[in-house]
Amino acid sequence: MVYFYKILTFLAKFTKIYRNLAKIISIFMIFSNKWTAKKLKNKFFQYFQGKEHHLISSASLIPENDPTVLFTTAGMHPLVPYLIGEKHPEGQCLISVQKCLRTGDIDEVGDATHHTFFEMLGNWSLGDYFKKEAIEYSWDFLTKILKLEKDKLAVSIFAGNKDVPAYDEESEKIWLSLGVSKERIEKIKDNWWGPAGQSGPCGPDTEIFYWTGPGKAPKKFEETDKHWVEIWNNVIMEFDKTADGKYQPLKQKNIDTGMGLERTLAVLNGYDDNYKTELFQPIIKQLENISGKKYEEDKKSFRIIADHIRSAVFILGDSHGIAPSNKDQGYVLRRLIRRAIRFARLLGIKEYFMASLGNLIASWYALAYPELERNEKFIFSELAKEEEKFSKTLDKGLKVFDKNPPKSGKDAFMLYSTYGFPIEMIEEEVKSRNLNFGNKEKQEFLEYTVQHANLSTTASAGMFKGGLADDGVMATKYHTATHLLHQALRDVLGQHVEQRGSNINEERLRFDFVHPDPMTNEQIKKVEDIVNQQIVAQLPVSYQEMSVEEAKKQGAIGLFEQKYGEKVKVYKMGNYSQEICGGPHVKNTSELGHFSIKKEQSSSAGIRRIKAVLE
Ligand code: ALA
Repeated sequence: MVYFYKILTFLAKFTKIYRNLAKIISIFMIFSNKWTAKKLKNKFFQYFQGKEHHLISSASLIPENDPTVLFTTAGMHPLVPYLIGEKHPEGQCLISVQKCLRTGDIDEVGDATHHTFFEMLGNWSLGDYFKKEAIEYSWDFLTKILKLEKDKLAVSIFAGNKDVPAYDEESEKIWLSLGVSKERIEKIKDNWWGPAGQSGPCGPDTEIFYWTGPGKAPKKFEETDKHWVEIWNNVIMEFDKTADGKYQPLKQKNIDTGMGLERTLAVLNGYDDNYKTELFQPIIKQLENISGKKYEEDKKSFRIIADHIRSAVFILGDSHGIAPSNKDQGYVLRRLIRRAIRFARLLGIKEYFMASLGNLIASWYALAYPELERNEKFIFSELAKEEEKFSKTLDKGLKVFDKNPPKSGKDAFMLYSTYGFPIEMIEEEVKSRNLNFGNKEKQEFLEYTVQHANLSTTASAGMFKGGLADDGVMATKYHTATHLLHQALRDVLGQHVEQRGSNINEERLRFDFVHPDPMTNEQIKKVEDIVNQQIVAQLPVSYQEMSVEEAKKQGAIGLFEQKYGEKVKVYKMGNYSQEICGGPHVKNTSELGHFSIKKEQSSSAGIRRIKAVLE
């Protein structure tokens, strides 16, 4: 352990160098004519602020109070309550740059334009402007502000499908009126976005593509041609998908948009590859140094490592204390780290590299995301620990491989499931040993993995229930109970208790908070009693909107580490609890029933987790 921390301290020295380097480069970039992420974000903000939009900060990568998905997948995700009618304290027109993570795209990572983690710029109308303005804004911004060549742009529109048969003629007319030719407008059946989870706001969309291929763009747009890269999506969010799969018109007609920062930055600089931008180049260069290979020699491996390690850094740096584990976000994190290591081995990297590379990324991004700096020790030590652990497993697996090389698909699957050996790696190893492992074996292996994947999908299907879009009665009650619990924990354990995570569904609440030791039975009982007293006391629940400063002054609790907008809602439960929150809540604590803590356990270092129910 002492040795481990010595290495950490040694490597941490580099962090400062990297961070200063990042600052110097970002200053230098102002004078260069290259587009930087910062410049692009600023242009976006300026444009929409000029159209009365308010900038809100990126929400956490881990959705608060939303059990439907593991990660925030789009800018609209934290806005779901406001898309279904709740009033947003910042108004009806908003913009943000949101940290997003999409595990569904993992198999596509390795090409020039897909990522697991990415940043999404978005503008929203919560029941304010609609289709015409949204489309015009997007076109105006891309062609007049970013000055993208009109002749390299094309759009797709919703063709209608079995649930919503009518094609989006209105959008087509708007595009034609802006000068987009008919050949550059393609009608597509699945041009539909959302909901983010199983139910909630969604709607037809109209996407904008940019030609990244050689020479002039073809006259006719075909979405299947990979040279057309989607850079912007305008979602006409006018439907609500109900839990039983029906599409109903939303009371409030919204606009939800998303522009991929990485892709747009690439095309603005004339690259056909996101990894050539300043967002990835420091990582790629460092990988070239340690592997002794050039990016051009094995782009796929370089890209996968760069992408996965960047995602891992953002998950670890998100202030939720998520560490590699065997479930939920921790499991995704573990897979990303391990996959990056496996591809690094393919590049011939034998030494430990994750922690120092992770640090480079954290330093690079810390200017825009200060949480990465705050959590740098955690990022660093978790990457180092996981790499050490996995390297040992890999070495063990290789020994098994030597002694007992796989002869069938089943053997290979065993190596995969026990030691995390992917098929590519098995194939490599088999080849280097001149063993026989052909298509038949590979096919059998794949059948095993499909069966295995089906099992895991069934296991995780339980995740897709409830969520922010679901203002179910029980979920609402659990929201309110969470506030009472939070305050009661502070009363019993002390003011150091702070929320680190919360997850609610119709059956229970889960609450993660800062506290160093397991709670005693006595403390648990005391907390339960206090919450139940507040329920019996029939406290009225109300909220007021105010600035964060005022909220703090009044003694409201909240995740102050997270940046809030100018105005926030402070929910009060009688005089017992005051907390910043978006809701929804019951009207009176008497509606909650009986509160009972079912489990108190460790969540990660220094963080405890409570599961509780209302009976
Ligand atoms: N929510 C839309 C998307 O992610 C804008 O594409």
